[in-house]
Amino acid sequence: MAWCAAVFLASLATLPWAACQSQTEDQSAGAGPRPPRQAALVSEHPLATNVGLAILDRGGNAADAAVATALALSVVHPQAGNLGGGGFALWVGRKDQPVMIDFRETAPLGADPKWYLDEAGAVLAGRAHTGALSIGVPGTPAGLWHLWRNHGSGRLSWRELVLPAIALARDGFVVNADLEADLQDEQVRQRLAASPLAASLFLRQGKGLAAGEMLVQSELAQTLERLAKEGPSGFYRGPVAQAMVRELDQVCAAERIERSACLGLEDLDKYQVKVRPPLIGWFRGHEIISAPPPSSGGVILLQVLGILDGFPLGAQRQAALSARERAGTSAVESDEAGIDARLAHWWIEALRSAFQTRASSLGDPDFVAVDLAQLLSTTWIASRRVQIGEGAGSTSAVPSEAAPRLRPEGMNTTHLSVLDSDGNAVALTTTLNSSFGSGIAVRGAGFLLNNELDDFALPQATPNQFGLIGGEKNRLAPGKRPLSSMAPTVVRAEDKSVRMVLGSPGGPRIPTSVLGVLLRTLVFEQSLKDAVAAPRLHQQTWPGETDFEAGWPAGLLDALKRRGHKLRSLQRTWGSVQAIRVAPDGTVEVASDPRSRGSGGVQERRAR
Ligand code: GLY
Repeated sequence: MAWCAAVFLASLATLPWAACQSQTEDQSAGAGPRPPRQAALVSEHPLATNVGLAILDRGGNAADAAVATALALSVVHPQAGNLGGGGFALWVGRKDQPVMIDFRETAPLGADPKWYLDEAGAVLAGRAHTGALSIGVPGTPAGLWHLWRNHGSGRLSWRELVLPAIALARDGFVVNADLEADLQDEQVRQRLAASPLAASLFLRQGKGLAAGEMLVQSELAQTLERLAKEGPSGFYRGPVAQAMVRELDQVCAAERIERSACLGLEDLDKYQVKVRPPLIGWFRGHEIISAPPPSSGGVILLQVLGILDGFPLGAQRQAALSARERAGTSAVESDEAGIDARLAHWWIEALRSAFQTRASSLGDPDFVAVDLAQLLSTTWIASRRVQIGEGAGSTSAVPSEAAPRLRPEGMNTTHLSVLDSDGNAVALTTTLNSSFGSGIAVRGAGFLLNNELDDFALPQATPNQFGLIGGEKNRLAPGKRPLSSMAPTVVRAEDKSVRMVLGSPGGPRIPTSVLGVLLRTLVFEQSLKDAVAAPRLHQQTWPGETDFEAGWPAGLLDALKRRGHKLRSLQRTWGSVQAIRVAPDGTVEVASDPRSRGSGGVQERRAR
């Protein structure tokens, strides 16, 4: 009941108390919803997907498969898959209450905001992004262990889940075009070049590895072997922990940072996973389950969906489709799904509002008060909706000296989705923050360390690498988790059967990418594949412009400009949604974002 009450608070907007009670009664009856006809798994790398599918094939459940896939990603997708980072895993068991396993990195116990200021008090923003002071205490080994220990099938040992990753690290794998492309980035190469082990692993004479080359990671294989034998204590204590601290000793000394300000043995020893009730809301007959703080992802999703729910989306779409038919292909002002400028305007303004909430009201709930009951209440959502007129809203002013540090990179997080044939689902998003994190690889242990502390809000409205500006609630403090945008999400039908499992990389573009797929599938009747492939839009309050991927009708963009919107049409893409959808008859389909080279697979139900 306590959980139910907690969820009720977190989802006051749309989950009536009666629904909350009946959910508990249904589930205690033990019947559970109808399972899907098939199992499925999708991730950003085919080798990792194959590892997870093989685990499902051997009788593992969604938790087992997610753990093995995430460990494989730490080897074959080193730009984001990790041991030295963190993330969120949403477990939605067929007969359990959903839980969010928060394995987000924490600020070291010696962390102090003064290290990010110069003697005159000006912000040294680069320190949060690069080097010793950017590194948070890793959470991934503890998080994956927790997922297996508490939700695994019991049919496969921890060691069995780590073994495929060990083999990939020890024997090597062929570098793919995504890894080659991510190593083309000049800033990434500079960071990697500054770390002796990272340079020897990922660079050849200063150039990044090319597609087709083999990447062998012997030290990583040994670390994974230790993790397989000893579980998380093989990472947080003993030789691996000592190797991390030795690496940091050298980095701190080189940067003339007091050693006590950086990650040490005590930080590693004290790291703890947090298990939190996820946020739950209802949208158009679907239950949306997503990430609570310290991620902003679920709040942004539920606020935007709540705001949009009060607009006549269906009627506007019908009007747009009719206008499109009349106009023929010339001068179309809506896309083929029926999204026109008015719908896009509501969507953009709802995002502008939700990202304002992100900046002003969210942080680590173990350190600051986060009033979810208010932020997700019908009153709050309605008050935001009525502020949306027919013209573009304005963005609250920020000091002019806060020049954006927008970078072409920094989009590298990774997501995997799993559904087993019993109907259990895992949506798991994990990250090093920037592509290859801090770029610092641990000698003697073989993995990269994150640069997650850039996700804390620096003073003086200083934007982080994603151009995000935060407030007091997201200020750095020892032991605190920085605010994230990750949004691992599961959608269920009213009978609690899973309908979708999805998530994406992309920093603040994570919730906007996930929202695009939810709106296109649940409202605009697109297939999962079309919804994932469709061009995206992104608005994060500041800067005031809305970004558009290529592919939106020019007429729609012109109509938005006439409403006062400032647009940036970008040639690059963002996000990499990895999604599973279950049709009402239980048939399962997967979509791995065509923006990257991931893969998914669907497996027939196995007799056990
Ligand atoms: N490091 C990106 C995020 O957590 O949003």
